[in-house]
Amino acid sequence: MRLLSAAVATLALTVGAQAAMAAPVEIKFSHVVAENTPKGQMANKFRDLVEERLAGKVEVKVFPSSQLFGDNKVLEAMLLGDVQMAAPSLSKFQKYTKSLQIFDLPFLFKDMEAVERFQQGPAGQKLLGSLSKKGLVGLGYLHNGMKQLSANNPLKTPADANGRKFRIMTSDVLQAQFEAVEAVPLKKPFSEVFTLLQTKAIDGQENTWSNIYSKKFFEVQPYITESNHGVLDYLVVTSAEFWMGLDDDLRTEIKKALDEAIKHGNMVAAEKASTDKQAIADSGRSEILTLTDAERQQWVEAMKPVWKKFEGEIGADLIEAAVASNK
Ligand code: LMR
Repeated sequence: MRLLSAAVATLALTVGAQAAMAAPVEIKFSHVVAENTPKGQMANKFRDLVEERLAGKVEVKVFPSSQLFGDNKVLEAMLLGDVQMAAPSLSKFQKYTKSLQIFDLPFLFKDMEAVERFQQGPAGQKLLGSLSKKGLVGLGYLHNGMKQLSANNPLKTPADANGRKFRIMTSDVLQAQFEAVEAVPLKKPFSEVFTLLQTKAIDGQENTWSNIYSKKFFEVQPYITESNHGVLDYLVVTSAEFWMGLDDDLRTEIKKALDEAIKHGNMVAAEKASTDKQAIADSGRSEILTLTDAERQQWVEAMKPVWKKFEGEIGADLIEAAVASNK
Protein backbone atom coordinates (compact mmCIF):
# COMPACT_ATOMS: atom_id res chain seq x y z
CA MET A 1 0.00 0.00 0.00
CA ARG A 2 2.77 2.35 1.01
CA LEU A 3 4.59 1.47 -2.20
CA LEU A 4 1.51 2.26 -4.22
CA SER A 5 1.01 5.69 -2.67
CA ALA A 6 4.70 6.48 -3.19
CA ALA A 7 4.30 5.57 -6.87
CA VAL A 8 1.18 7.73 -7.15
CA ALA A 9 2.99 10.64 -5.50
CA THR A 10 5.95 10.29 -7.90
CA LEU A 11 3.61 10.19 -10.87
CA ALA A 12 1.75 13.28 -9.66
CA LEU A 13 5.04 15.12 -9.22
CA THR A 14 6.24 14.17 -12.72
CA VAL A 15 2.95 15.19 -14.34
CA GLY A 16 2.97 18.42 -12.33
CA ALA A 17 6.54 19.22 -13.37
CA GLN A 18 5.76 18.51 -17.03
CA ALA A 19 2.69 20.74 -16.91
CA ALA A 20 4.77 23.49 -15.33
CA MET A 21 7.46 23.07 -18.00
CA ALA A 22 4.89 23.19 -20.74
CA ALA A 23 3.09 26.32 -19.48
CA PRO A 24 3.28 28.94 -22.25
CA VAL A 25 5.25 32.13 -21.74
CA GLU A 26 2.72 34.87 -21.12
CA ILE A 27 3.15 38.29 -22.70
CA LYS A 28 0.78 40.92 -21.37
CA PHE A 29 0.73 43.80 -23.86
CA SER A 30 -0.71 46.94 -22.30
CA HIS A 31 -1.64 50.09 -24.18
CA VAL A 32 -3.85 53.15 -23.79
CA VAL A 33 -5.51 53.66 -27.16
CA ALA A 34 -8.57 52.13 -28.80
CA GLU A 35 -8.29 48.92 -30.82
CA ASN A 36 -9.10 50.67 -34.11
CA THR A 37 -5.85 52.65 -34.08
CA PRO A 38 -2.36 51.93 -35.47
CA LYS A 39 -1.12 50.74 -32.06
CA GLY A 40 -4.29 48.78 -31.30
CA GLN A 41 -4.08 47.04 -34.68
CA MET A 42 -0.37 46.35 -34.31
CA ALA A 43 -0.82 44.75 -30.89
CA ASN A 44 -3.69 42.57 -32.12
CA LYS A 45 -1.69 41.51 -35.19
CA PHE A 46 1.24 40.58 -32.95
CA ARG A 47 -1.08 38.50 -30.74
CA ASP A 48 -2.54 36.74 -33.81
CA LEU A 49 0.86 35.99 -35.39
CA VAL A 50 2.16 34.56 -32.13
CA GLU A 51 -0.99 32.46 -31.78
CA GLU A 52 -0.54 31.16 -35.33
CA ARG A 53 3.15 30.33 -34.98
CA LEU A 54 3.86 29.70 -31.32
CA ALA A 55 0.62 28.27 -29.96
CA GLY A 56 1.25 26.45 -26.70
CA LYS A 57 4.66 28.09 -26.30
CA VAL A 58 3.80 31.78 -26.06
CA GLU A 59 0.52 33.52 -25.35
CA VAL A 60 -0.03 37.25 -25.93
CA LYS A 61 -2.82 39.00 -24.05
CA VAL A 62 -3.60 42.54 -25.23
CA PHE A 63 -5.12 45.09 -22.85
CA PRO A 64 -6.24 48.23 -24.77
CA SER A 65 -7.64 51.60 -23.60
CA SER A 66 -5.65 51.82 -20.32
CA GLN A 67 -7.53 48.74 -19.00
CA LEU A 68 -4.41 47.39 -17.33
CA PHE A 69 -2.05 50.37 -16.93
CA GLY A 70 -1.97 53.99 -18.05
CA ASP A 71 1.15 55.06 -19.92
CA ASN A 72 2.47 56.85 -16.88
CA LYS A 73 2.56 53.65 -14.84
CA VAL A 74 3.27 50.98 -17.41
CA LEU A 75 7.06 51.22 -17.41
CA GLU A 76 7.27 50.87 -13.64
CA ALA A 77 4.94 47.87 -13.88
CA MET A 78 7.17 46.40 -16.60
CA LEU A 79 10.25 46.63 -14.41
CA LEU A 80 8.30 44.83 -11.68
CA GLY A 81 7.36 42.06 -14.12
CA ASP A 82 3.60 42.83 -14.05
CA VAL A 83 3.47 43.49 -17.80
CA GLN A 84 5.87 42.33 -20.52
CA MET A 85 5.27 44.66 -23.47
CA ALA A 86 3.96 48.13 -24.14
CA ALA A 87 4.36 50.86 -26.74
CA PRO A 88 4.17 54.23 -25.01
CA SER A 89 4.52 57.29 -27.14
CA LEU A 90 8.09 58.54 -27.44
CA SER A 91 7.06 61.53 -25.32
CA LYS A 92 6.60 59.35 -22.23
CA PHE A 93 10.16 58.18 -21.61
CA GLN A 94 11.80 61.27 -20.15
CA LYS A 95 12.15 59.70 -16.70
CA TYR A 96 14.27 56.98 -18.32
CA THR A 97 16.25 58.82 -20.99
CA LYS A 98 16.67 62.39 -22.20
CA SER A 99 17.66 61.54 -25.77
CA LEU A 100 14.19 60.42 -26.90
CA GLN A 101 13.04 63.98 -26.22
CA ILE A 102 14.26 64.69 -29.73
CA PHE A 103 10.96 63.42 -31.12
CA ASP A 104 9.02 66.15 -29.28
CA LEU A 105 10.88 69.11 -30.76
CA PRO A 106 8.29 71.17 -32.63
CA PHE A 107 8.58 71.46 -36.41
CA LEU A 108 11.59 69.14 -36.52
CA PHE A 109 10.37 66.60 -39.09
CA LYS A 110 8.67 67.81 -42.24
CA ASP A 111 6.61 64.62 -42.69
CA MET A 112 6.37 60.95 -41.71
CA GLU A 113 8.82 59.90 -44.43
CA ALA A 114 11.47 62.03 -42.73
CA VAL A 115 10.59 60.46 -39.36
CA GLU A 116 10.97 57.00 -40.89
CA ARG A 117 14.35 57.88 -42.44
CA PHE A 118 15.62 59.17 -39.10
CA GLN A 119 14.34 56.20 -37.09
CA GLN A 120 15.79 53.64 -39.48
CA GLY A 121 19.09 55.48 -39.90
CA PRO A 122 22.11 55.01 -37.60
CA ALA A 123 21.13 57.73 -35.10
CA GLY A 124 17.58 56.44 -34.74
CA GLN A 125 18.73 52.83 -34.38
CA LYS A 126 21.20 53.81 -31.69
CA LEU A 127 18.39 55.46 -29.73
CA LEU A 128 16.65 52.07 -29.43
CA GLY A 129 19.34 51.19 -26.89
CA SER A 130 18.99 54.41 -24.90
CA LEU A 131 16.95 52.70 -22.15
CA SER A 132 19.34 49.84 -21.49
CA LYS A 133 20.76 51.33 -18.29
CA LYS A 134 17.24 51.41 -16.89
CA GLY A 135 16.57 47.75 -17.60
CA LEU A 136 14.37 48.34 -20.65
CA VAL A 137 14.86 47.18 -24.24
CA GLY A 138 13.61 49.17 -27.23
CA LEU A 139 12.33 46.60 -29.72
CA GLY A 140 11.26 48.94 -32.52
CA TYR A 141 9.51 52.13 -33.50
CA LEU A 142 5.88 52.26 -34.50
CA HIS A 143 4.25 55.17 -36.30
CA ASN A 144 1.08 56.97 -35.44
CA GLY A 145 1.50 60.26 -37.24
CA MET A 146 1.76 64.02 -37.15
CA LYS A 147 -0.01 65.93 -34.38
CA GLN A 148 -2.75 68.48 -34.85
CA LEU A 149 -4.03 71.12 -32.43
CA SER A 150 -7.63 70.99 -31.27
CA ALA A 151 -9.40 73.61 -29.17
CA ASN A 152 -12.63 75.32 -28.18
CA ASN A 153 -11.59 78.37 -30.18
CA PRO A 154 -10.08 78.61 -33.65
CA LEU A 155 -6.27 78.53 -33.48
CA LYS A 156 -4.86 80.33 -36.48
CA THR A 157 -1.94 82.21 -34.99
CA PRO A 158 0.07 81.64 -31.77
CA ALA A 159 -1.75 84.58 -30.14
CA ASP A 160 -4.96 82.50 -30.30
CA ALA A 161 -3.39 80.06 -27.83
CA ASN A 162 -2.40 82.70 -25.25
CA GLY A 163 -3.69 81.89 -21.78
CA ARG A 164 -5.48 78.70 -22.95
CA LYS A 165 -5.05 75.41 -21.13
CA PHE A 166 -3.78 72.48 -23.19
CA ARG A 167 -3.41 68.89 -22.09
CA ILE A 168 0.03 67.50 -22.89
CA MET A 169 1.78 64.16 -22.44
CA THR A 170 4.39 63.95 -19.68
CA SER A 171 7.13 65.78 -21.55
CA ASP A 172 9.08 68.89 -20.59
CA VAL A 173 9.66 69.63 -24.27
CA LEU A 174 5.93 69.72 -24.92
CA GLN A 175 5.53 71.90 -21.86
CA ALA A 176 8.09 74.35 -23.26
CA GLN A 177 6.41 74.21 -26.67
CA PHE A 178 3.09 75.46 -25.27
CA GLU A 179 4.75 77.95 -22.94
CA ALA A 180 6.45 79.38 -26.02
CA VAL A 181 3.02 80.51 -27.26
CA GLU A 182 2.05 81.68 -23.77
CA ALA A 183 -0.43 78.87 -23.28
CA VAL A 184 -0.85 76.82 -20.10
CA PRO A 185 0.22 73.17 -20.57
CA LEU A 186 -1.07 70.48 -18.18
CA LYS A 187 0.47 66.99 -18.04
CA LYS A 188 -2.40 64.50 -17.89
CA PRO A 189 -2.85 60.82 -18.73
CA PHE A 190 -4.48 59.96 -22.05
CA SER A 191 -7.39 58.25 -20.30
CA GLU A 192 -8.51 61.59 -18.81
CA VAL A 193 -8.39 63.74 -21.94
CA PHE A 194 -11.96 63.25 -23.16
CA THR A 195 -13.52 64.18 -19.81
CA LEU A 196 -11.20 67.17 -19.36
CA LEU A 197 -12.27 68.45 -22.76
CA GLN A 198 -15.94 67.65 -22.31
CA THR A 199 -16.14 69.43 -18.96
CA LYS A 200 -14.07 72.32 -20.35
CA ALA A 201 -11.54 71.91 -17.56
CA ILE A 202 -9.06 72.42 -20.39
CA ASP A 203 -9.38 74.30 -23.68
CA GLY A 204 -7.50 72.07 -26.04
CA GLN A 205 -4.97 69.35 -26.72
CA GLU A 206 -2.60 68.08 -29.41
CA ASN A 207 -2.89 64.66 -31.00
CA THR A 208 -2.98 62.63 -34.19
CA TRP A 209 -6.03 62.22 -36.41
CA SER A 210 -6.50 58.62 -35.30
CA ASN A 211 -6.47 59.46 -31.58
CA ILE A 212 -8.75 62.47 -32.06
CA TYR A 213 -11.15 60.26 -33.98
CA SER A 214 -11.07 57.00 -32.03
CA LYS A 215 -11.38 58.67 -28.62
CA LYS A 216 -14.03 61.09 -29.92
CA PHE A 217 -12.15 64.24 -28.99
CA PHE A 218 -13.59 65.81 -32.16
CA GLU A 219 -17.07 65.60 -30.64
CA VAL A 220 -16.06 67.95 -27.84
CA GLN A 221 -13.63 70.19 -29.73
CA PRO A 222 -15.25 72.48 -32.29
CA TYR A 223 -11.95 73.37 -34.02
CA ILE A 224 -8.97 71.36 -35.20
CA THR A 225 -6.02 73.17 -36.75
CA GLU A 226 -4.12 71.05 -39.23
CA SER A 227 -0.75 72.13 -37.87
CA ASN A 228 1.39 68.99 -38.35
CA HIS A 229 3.68 70.65 -35.81
CA GLY A 230 5.15 67.49 -34.29
CA VAL A 231 5.20 63.72 -34.41
CA LEU A 232 3.49 61.15 -32.19
CA ASP A 233 5.21 57.81 -32.60
CA TYR A 234 5.85 54.90 -30.27
CA LEU A 235 8.60 52.75 -28.93
CA VAL A 236 7.72 49.11 -28.41
CA VAL A 237 9.48 48.13 -25.18
CA THR A 238 10.04 45.16 -22.94
CA SER A 239 12.17 44.59 -19.86
CA ALA A 240 15.71 43.27 -20.22
CA GLU A 241 14.94 40.71 -17.52
CA PHE A 242 12.01 39.24 -19.45
CA TRP A 243 13.66 39.49 -22.87
CA MET A 244 16.98 37.96 -21.92
CA GLY A 245 15.22 35.26 -19.90
CA LEU A 246 13.65 33.82 -23.07
CA ASP A 247 15.48 31.09 -24.89
CA ASP A 248 17.18 32.23 -28.07
CA ASP A 249 14.88 30.53 -30.59
CA LEU A 250 11.76 31.83 -28.93
CA ARG A 251 13.17 35.36 -28.70
CA THR A 252 13.99 35.28 -32.42
CA GLU A 253 10.49 34.07 -33.34
CA ILE A 254 8.79 36.64 -31.12
CA LYS A 255 10.89 39.45 -32.58
CA LYS A 256 10.05 38.30 -36.11
CA ALA A 257 6.32 38.38 -35.33
CA LEU A 258 6.70 41.80 -33.73
CA ASP A 259 8.55 43.23 -36.74
CA GLU A 260 5.77 42.02 -39.03
CA ALA A 261 3.12 43.43 -36.70
CA ILE A 262 4.91 46.80 -36.69
CA LYS A 263 4.93 46.84 -40.51
CA HIS A 264 1.20 46.21 -40.41
CA GLY A 265 0.70 48.94 -37.77
CA ASN A 266 2.65 51.41 -39.90
CA MET A 267 0.38 50.70 -42.87
CA VAL A 268 -2.66 51.27 -40.68
CA ALA A 269 -1.09 54.53 -39.43
CA ALA A 270 -0.58 55.87 -42.95
CA GLU A 271 -4.13 54.94 -43.89
CA LYS A 272 -5.78 56.34 -40.78
CA ALA A 273 -3.98 59.67 -41.03
CA SER A 274 -6.23 60.38 -44.00
CA THR A 275 -9.35 58.25 -43.39
CA ASP A 276 -9.83 59.37 -39.77
CA LYS A 277 -9.27 62.99 -40.77
CA GLN A 278 -11.93 62.53 -43.46
CA ALA A 279 -14.32 60.88 -41.00
CA ILE A 280 -13.95 63.86 -38.66
CA ALA A 281 -14.58 66.28 -41.53
CA ASP A 282 -17.65 64.27 -42.60
CA SER A 283 -19.06 64.24 -39.06
CA GLY A 284 -19.60 68.00 -39.14
CA ARG A 285 -18.83 68.10 -35.41
CA SER A 286 -15.51 69.86 -35.73
CA GLU A 287 -14.21 72.37 -38.24
CA ILE A 288 -10.80 71.59 -39.70
CA LEU A 289 -8.74 74.75 -40.12
CA THR A 290 -5.82 75.00 -42.49
CA LEU A 291 -3.03 77.52 -42.02
CA THR A 292 -1.69 79.86 -44.65
CA ASP A 293 2.09 79.73 -45.09
CA ALA A 294 2.40 83.03 -43.24
CA GLU A 295 0.29 81.78 -40.30
CA ARG A 296 2.25 78.55 -40.08
CA GLN A 297 5.48 80.49 -40.13
CA GLN A 298 4.32 82.39 -37.04
CA TRP A 299 3.92 79.08 -35.14
CA VAL A 300 7.34 77.92 -36.32
CA GLU A 301 9.00 81.14 -35.19
CA ALA A 302 7.28 81.07 -31.80
CA MET A 303 8.00 77.42 -31.05
CA LYS A 304 11.40 76.77 -32.60
CA PRO A 305 13.42 78.41 -29.78
CA VAL A 306 12.49 75.29 -27.77
CA TRP A 307 15.19 73.40 -29.73
CA LYS A 308 17.95 75.53 -28.21
CA LYS A 309 16.57 75.02 -24.72
CA PHE A 310 16.88 71.24 -24.96
CA GLU A 311 19.97 71.01 -27.17
CA GLY A 312 22.18 70.29 -24.14
CA GLU A 313 20.05 67.34 -22.97
CA ILE A 314 19.36 65.89 -26.41
CA GLY A 315 22.65 66.59 -28.16
CA ALA A 316 23.32 68.95 -31.07
CA ASP A 317 24.55 66.04 -33.26
CA LEU A 318 21.31 64.16 -32.83
CA ILE A 319 19.26 67.23 -33.76
CA GLU A 320 21.46 67.71 -36.81
CA ALA A 321 20.88 64.09 -37.88
CA ALA A 322 17.13 64.57 -37.52
CA VAL A 323 17.19 67.77 -39.56
CA ALA A 324 19.22 65.97 -42.25
CA SER A 325 16.47 63.34 -42.55
CA ASN A 326 14.24 66.04 -44.08
CA LYS A 327 16.67 65.95 -47.06
C1 LMR B 1 -1.36 60.52 -25.72
O1 LMR B 1 -1.18 60.36 -24.51
O2 LMR B 1 -1.94 61.48 -26.21
C2 LMR B 1 -0.86 59.45 -26.67
O3 LMR B 1 0.43 59.10 -26.28
C3 LMR B 1 -1.74 58.26 -26.64
C4 LMR B 1 -1.17 57.18 -27.52
O4 LMR B 1 -0.63 56.22 -26.98
O5 LMR B 1 -1.29 57.32 -28.74
